[in-house]
Order: sequence, then structure tokens, then C-alpha cells
Amino acid sequence: MDTNAAWLDYWDGDVSLYVSRRHLEAHYQGLLAAIEPLLPPAPFTLLDFGCGEALMAPAIAAKGGRVILFDEAAARRGTLRQRFASIPGIEIPDETDSLAGTCDMVLMISVIQYVPKDQLAGLLARIRRLLKPGGRLVLGDILAPDNSIADDALALLGFGLKEGFLMDAVIGLFKTLRSDYRQARQKLGLSTYSIDGILAALKAAGFEAAPLGWNIGHARHRRSVTATAA
Ligand SMILES: C[S@@+](CC[C@H](N)C(=O)[O-])C[C@H]1O[C@@H](n2cnc3c(N)ncnc32)[C@H](O)[C@@H]1O
Repeated sequence: MDTNAAWLDYWDGDVSLYVSRRHLEAHYQGLLAAIEPLLPPAPFTLLDFGCGEALMAPAIAAKGGRVILFDEAAARRGTLRQRFASIPGIEIPDETDSLAGTCDMVLMISVIQYVPKDQLAGLLARIRRLLKPGGRLVLGDILAPDNSIADDALALLGFGLKEGFLMDAVIGLFKTLRSDYRQARQKLGLSTYSIDGILAALKAAGFEAAPLGWNIGHARHRRSVTATAA
């Protein structure tokens, strides 16, 4: 089993990463606020690739978007179908090939760290095929080689303080020390990229890319970039 498949096993299970419901909700509210300035004019087709819980999907659909949620972890897709079945404008396919050339925007937030570096070029080529000419990829929450678990822990505490779940964040951090996520992170590791490294990978995959002035995600030490299919 390769590293991505092993991570997908984790994401297919009962995910322990979020310390409380408030954490989960604040996370997706933050993602929505960070993505809103980047959304294309309506009507648009947006693919959220590696979407996770995707709690911001109805708000994006309400802005005139066809929102396609895709996650390689099959159990996530089942949960998403139950959650969003009655909401117009949201689709949850089992594959992405049929979307070739149809997407104005692809979000890939907090995903590439779970993909081995030697698979990144293939993944970016796949995403590029899904975009319309001139369509945009938003790559968010990228970890740099010098980022540490301590940086992530501090960022979570700051986020908890700001969003009113500090106590849950503290308890969650202690739980994390013994959690599946911590074990998986220790065993499997995460792929990290310098900004220059990710820009070069995007260029090689046929994108014109630039760093974003803010991160899509609460952690200020992580970075985001946008990339237009050249
Ligand atoms: C940290 S979560 C991020 C979820 C969401 N994008 C967010 O920012 O909250 C990582 C997600 O990426 C998904 N994922 C990992 N590797 C993937 C791949 N190769 N293709 C599609 N999804 C993948 C996982 O199943 C998981 O739901």
C-alpha cells in the first residue's frame, strides 16, 4: 500500500482531527471566508477535490455555483451524499474523469501533504485536464519543510482562542498525542514544499502560478497558491 492509500485509509475511517463540532464549523467558515474573494463570476463550476466534510459547499452553491465534491475516501462520499442530498447545485461523483474541461475552479485545500511527492506531477496533470482553459486551481494549506507539529499545535490553540473553543483545543491536543492522526503522521509523514518548489511543480504541469497573500486555512505558517491553466 503506498503512502496516499494508507492516508486514505485514515480519512476513510472515523476522523479524529477535529477537536469539537465548533472546531469543524469554524474551520469551514474560515475556508469559505478565504475562498470567497477568489470565486469566479456566477454561474461557475467549482470542484472541491479532497473536500473532506465540505461544510461550506451550500454557501458556495448559493453564490451561483455548480459545486462538485470529490474525495477519494469512499466513506466520505457516503457521508456527503446523506448530508447534501436535498441541496440543489451540489454533486458528489465517484470519479472526476467525466468533468474534463468543465471546471472554472478547482480547490485542493490541505490535500497535497497526503500525496507522495513522486505522485504530485500526475495529480496536477489530472487537475489541469479538468479545468477549462483559463480555469484556476487553488492549492491551500501547503506545509513547508521547516514547519513542525509544534507550529500546528500553536496555530490550533490560537484558532481555538479566537473562535471560542480554546478548552476543547487544549483537550484535543492532549488526545491528539495518542490519536490515530498522530500515529499516522509519525508513520507515514507528510509531503512538504517550499513556495519555490510548489511553483516550479505547477509550472512544469502547465500552470501559471503565484503565491496567495493569505492562507486558506487557519494556520498562518502554512501557505496557499493559485494557478491558472496556461
Ligand atoms: C485534511 S483533509 C482536507 C479536507 C478539506 N479539503 C479541508 O480543507 O477541510 C484531506 C482530505 O483529502 C482527501 N484526499 C487525500 N488524498 C486524496 C487523493 N489522492 N484524491 C482525493 N482526495 C484525497 C482525504 O480523503 C481527506 O478528506
